[in-house]
Amino acid sequence: MATTEHKVLIGVIGGSGLYHLDNLTPVETVNPKTPWGYPSSPLTIMQLPSGGKVAFLARHGVGHQFSPSHVPVRANIAAFKSIGVRVILAFSAVGSLREDIHPGDFIIPDQIIDRTKGIRPATFFDEGVVGHAMFGDPFDSELLKRVAPLVKEALAPKEIGNGAGVHTGKCVVCMEGPAFSTRAESNMYRLWGGDIINMSVLPEAKLAREAEMSYALVATSTDYDAWRVSEHPVTVEEVVKTLHQNANASRHVAEHVLEVLYPEIEAGEVGSGFVGTMKYSTVTKA
Ligand code: ADE
Repeated sequence: MATTEHKVLIGVIGGSGLYHLDNLTPVETVNPKTPWGYPSSPLTIMQLPSGGKVAFLARHGVGHQFSPSHVPVRANIAAFKSIGVRVILAFSAVGSLREDIHPGDFIIPDQIIDRTKGIRPATFFDEGVVGHAMFGDPFDSELLKRVAPLVKEALAPKEIGNGAGVHTGKCVVCMEGPAFSTRAESNMYRLWGGDIINMSVLPEAKLAREAEMSYALVATSTDYDAWRVSEHPVTVEEVVKTLHQNANASRHVAEHVLEVLYPEIEAGEVGSGFVGTMKYSTVTKA
């Protein structure tokens, strides 16, 4: 099936450790073929308790077969667009570049530093048509204002949040990987103003903007990267261990945020701010 009869307004991208949302009810699976090929995983259409439908996609594939450099990102964003998604909520594991962002904490960043430039295909406009998207605020600021308090609310019960902090107004560094950073790089990112680091917010956020969709990242800190002299640099075991501990909290956060946001998106109160913004972005010679 390449498309769906359901009205699906939100796309959820699950990062490492979040391969399904089994707290929601699956109603259909679709696998749209886009001009950029198939998405990383089929889209599972899930029903929220109040009836709204969201599409879930495993960024690295169901068996985690796509490295951050090889995720079919254009197909992922185009697949969401093709079924009518307006808002993308992306979940990602990140390393912490700050003492006060502890493993297990949640972060809703508002800025990005791009360390993948020129390496990954980062635009839909690379053949014949030139388009320049505004990207000064790389996330949908209005959406961030709604998402942050909802993440806090979801984590408030002690048995769910387990004391996890929620941070806003932070800057995520997106590195190429797949190896983690050296200690020198990690320190450099701190000096640049980076607060957290991952390998996957880009080009996702750029492509969502070009597709006139609203995008926010809900990040979970899994480690202190490599800058902390008192600790060994991050290993994948550490990341996976914290991810497992956090997966249930992430699913709970997802359900709460989606449930509250869905009617607001449906009513056009949230998530429509970029519709039409690419209209004058293409440069064509008369
Ligand atoms: N994802 C989780 N932890 C990370 C780190 N330290 N660096 C890059 N990506 C990560």
